[in-house]
Amino acid sequence: MRLVILDTATDVSEWAAKFVRNRILQKKPGPGNYFVLGLPTGGTPMGMYKKLVEFHKKGELSFKYVITFNMDEYVGLPRDHPESYHSYMWENFFKHIDIDPEHANVLDGNAKDLTKECDEFERKIKDAGGVDLFVGGIGPDGHIAFNEPGSSLKSRTRVKSLAKETIVANARFFDNDINKVPKMALTVGVDTVMDAHEVMILITGVAKAYALRHSIEEGVNHMFTVSAFQLHPRTIFVTDEDATMELKVRTVKYFKGLMDVHNKLVEQPEDPTAPPSAKRLKSPVNGK
Ligand code: F6R
Repeated sequence: MRLVILDTATDVSEWAAKFVRNRILQKKPGPGNYFVLGLPTGGTPMGMYKKLVEFHKKGELSFKYVITFNMDEYVGLPRDHPESYHSYMWENFFKHIDIDPEHANVLDGNAKDLTKECDEFERKIKDAGGVDLFVGGIGPDGHIAFNEPGSSLKSRTRVKSLAKETIVANARFFDNDINKVPKMALTVGVDTVMDAHEVMILITGVAKAYALRHSIEEGVNHMFTVSAFQLHPRTIFVTDEDATMELKVRTVKYFKGLMDVHNKLVEQPEDPTAPPSAKRLKSPVNGK
C-alpha cells in the first residue's frame, strides 16, 4: 500500500489529477487500446475533475480513447435531477472533455430491472478488458462506493440500501433535508473494485480520520469496507493532513519519508515526440 500525505485537500486534487493523467499517457491509448478508468462522485473528487479538465483544455490530455465506469448511482432519482450522479459527471467532467458519450458508463438507477442493470454493468467492465485504474472516495463510515458497513468484501455490482450515516452525510447535497436523500443506490461491489489493476482512494478532512485509521492500521474488516484494499497489490491512498489526525505518528512519519518516491509518480512526463530542445530539462542535482 502507498499512503501519500499532502498538506491540503487542494494538493490532493492536484496530485490525483496528475496521477490519472500520467497513467493514461503511459498506456498510450488509441484505437483498440483504451484506458479504462473507474470514477467516483462526491465532494472529494471535484477538484481532481477540475484539474483534469484543465489538462485537457491545455492539450496535454485526451479522453478520446478512455472508457469510464462510475462507481454508483442513486435509485429512483431522475437522471436529470441536479444531484443524480449522471448530472454530476456531465456537469463536472464529461461535458468539458472529448470522451465519447458511449464510453462514459454510469449505472441507471431508474432501470426497470435493477439487478439486470447491475449484471450488465459488470459485463461491460469485463468486455472493456477490466479497469486499469479505479479512483474512489470513502464515507466517514469507511465505505468505498456505496459498500456500507457489513457489505460482503466479495460483493459485486448490486442494489444497496444506504446507511443512516451516508444519508446524513449526503443531505448537504439535498437542502440539508435527509428526507430528500434517496435511500437506495446501485453500486459496484468491493470485489468489482478489487479486480482493477490499480486503485487510488482520495480521503480528505478530519471527518474521515477515524475511518482512515480503521482502514489502514486495523485489520481487514467488512465494517470498514475500504480496509479490503489492504489485500490489493496496487492501492494508493491520497490524503490531506487533516485525514491523518487519528493515525499513529510512526505511520505518518514512515509514509512522509517516502514522499520523494511517491512524487515521481506525478512528474510531468516528457513528450517523446517533442524535439530535444522542447523536452523538459532535468536538474542533475535533484531531478526536478
Ligand atoms: C460516490 C461514492 C462514495 C463517496 C463517499 C465520499 O461515488 O462512491 O463512496 O466517494 O461517500 O463522499 P464525499 O467525497 O462527498 O465525502
